[in-house]
Amino acid sequence: MNQHLSNAADNPVRAGFIGVGNFVSANHLPNAHASAKWSVEAICDVDEINRTRAGERYQPRCLTDRYQDLLTDPEIEVIFIGTRHDLHERLIRESAEHGKDVFVEKPMSKTWAETRAILKSIQDANTRLMVGYNRRFAPAMQMAKQVYRQRNAGKPTIWTYRAVDDAKLWPSWPMDVDIGGGKVMSEGCHFYDLACWFLEDEPHWVQCSGRRDDDNLIQIGFANGSQAMIVSGGAGSATYPKERMEVFCDSSTLVLDMFLELHTAGYAGCEDEHFPMQDDRDTASRDGHTIAGFRRRARRWAKSEIQAEELKRKTYAAYPKVDKGHIHELDAYADAIRAGEDSPCGVIDGARATAIALRAIESLDDQSRPQAICQSDYQYRDTSACLSTTSGE
Ligand SMILES: NC(=O)c1ccc[n+]([C@@H]2O[C@H](COP(=O)([O-])OP(=O)(O)OC[C@H]3O[C@@H](n4cnc5c(N)ncnc54)[C@H](O)[C@@H]3O)[C@@H](O)[C@H]2O)c1
Repeated sequence: MNQHLSNAADNPVRAGFIGVGNFVSANHLPNAHASAKWSVEAICDVDEINRTRAGERYQPRCLTDRYQDLLTDPEIEVIFIGTRHDLHERLIRESAEHGKDVFVEKPMSKTWAETRAILKSIQDANTRLMVGYNRRFAPAMQMAKQVYRQRNAGKPTIWTYRAVDDAKLWPSWPMDVDIGGGKVMSEGCHFYDLACWFLEDEPHWVQCSGRRDDDNLIQIGFANGSQAMIVSGGAGSATYPKERMEVFCDSSTLVLDMFLELHTAGYAGCEDEHFPMQDDRDTASRDGHTIAGFRRRARRWAKSEIQAEELKRKTYAAYPKVDKGHIHELDAYADAIRAGEDSPCGVIDGARATAIALRAIESLDDQSRPQAICQSDYQYRDTSACLSTTSGE
C-alpha cells in the first residue's frame, strides 16, 4: 500500500485514468482536475475521439492508447479504471501487481471468480482499492445517516430506496445482461452498498422479482432484522426526480428526496434540511435546493432543443444535476491515501455489493425465492466452503 504521509492539498495524489468515456469525462476527470488534492498525470483510452478530447482539455503529461504505459510509470500513484465492466478485474489485477492504488468504477466485479481474483490480488499486493459507490459521500446522505444513527443505531429498521427514471434517455449497454450485467448488477450495486453502509449491518438474504435488465424489486434481509426494499426501474419520466430514500425505525421517519430535501419526524430537535444542486452551490437562490426547483428545471430541459451529439452520447449538459457525492468521494480517497489509511469504500465493500447482486440474480432464476448470503461470499479468506456449495459463476 502506498504510504506518503502528508496532506493531499499540499501534495496532490498523482493519477492516471484508463477509460475516459461518458462517465469519467463528465465526472472524475473534471473533478480531479479542479481539485487541489489530485493531479491528472496520464490519460489512456483506445477510442481516439475520447482520448483526444480529454487530452486537449486536461493536458496530461502522458496521453496514450496503451494502458500498460500508465502501470509502468513510476510517478503514477493511483490508477482510475473507467472502462466498462468486462475489463475491471484484469485492470485491477495488473494495477495491483504494479504496486498501484486503484479507483474502480462500479461494479468492482460481476462474477464470483472475478471477486475472488480481485480479493487475492489486492491482498497479495497490499494495495488500496476504492470502489466508486459515490452515494455514501453525498453531503445530504452523510447528514441523513448521522441523524438516523444518533437515534437508531443497531435497531431493526425498514429502509426503502426508489430509483426510477426513463431508460430511453441513458446508455443501454449497462442493461444488456451479457455486457453490463443488467440493472440488477449494473446499477443495483449502488443501492445494495448504500443499504449496508447506511444500516451498518451485513446482508443475510436477498430476494428479487421482475426482470434482470430493468424494472425490478429487490428485498434484502439483514443480520439484526432490518429489511431493505429497492424499487429500480426505467419506466418513469426523466422530468420527475429519480431517487428517494425512506427510513422507518422505532416511531421515527426519515425521508431523503433526490439529495435535495431531508425530512424527519420523531427525531427530537431535528429540522428539515435542504441541499443545493451542483450548479447552485454558490448562488443565493433557493430554487436549486428543492424538489419543485428540480422539476421546473427538468421540464425546461425536456422542452429545450437537445443537441444531436448529446442524444447520440446520451449525456445531457443541461439536465439538472444534484450532488450525489462524486466530488466528495475523490476528496475522501485522496485524504485516505495521504493519511496512510484504508480506502473509505474498499475491496470488501465492492465484493459485498457484487455478492448481493449475484444472489439477487440467483433469486430471479429460482422463481424469486430468497437466497442466503454468506459473509464468506465477500471476505478475503475461507471463501471455499460457502462458494463451492451455493454459487455458480
Ligand atoms: N458512479 C456512477 O454514478 C456511474 C454512472 C455511470 C457509469 N458508471 C460506471 O462508469 C464506467 C464506465 O461507464 P461509461 O458509461 O462511461 O462507459 P463508456 O463506454 O462511455 O466509456 C468506457 C471507455 O473505456 C474505453 N476503453 C475500453 N477499453 C479500453 C482499454 N483497453 N484501454 C483504455 N480504454 C478503454 C472506451 O473507449 C470508452 O471511452 C462503468 O463501470 C459504469 O458502470 C458509474
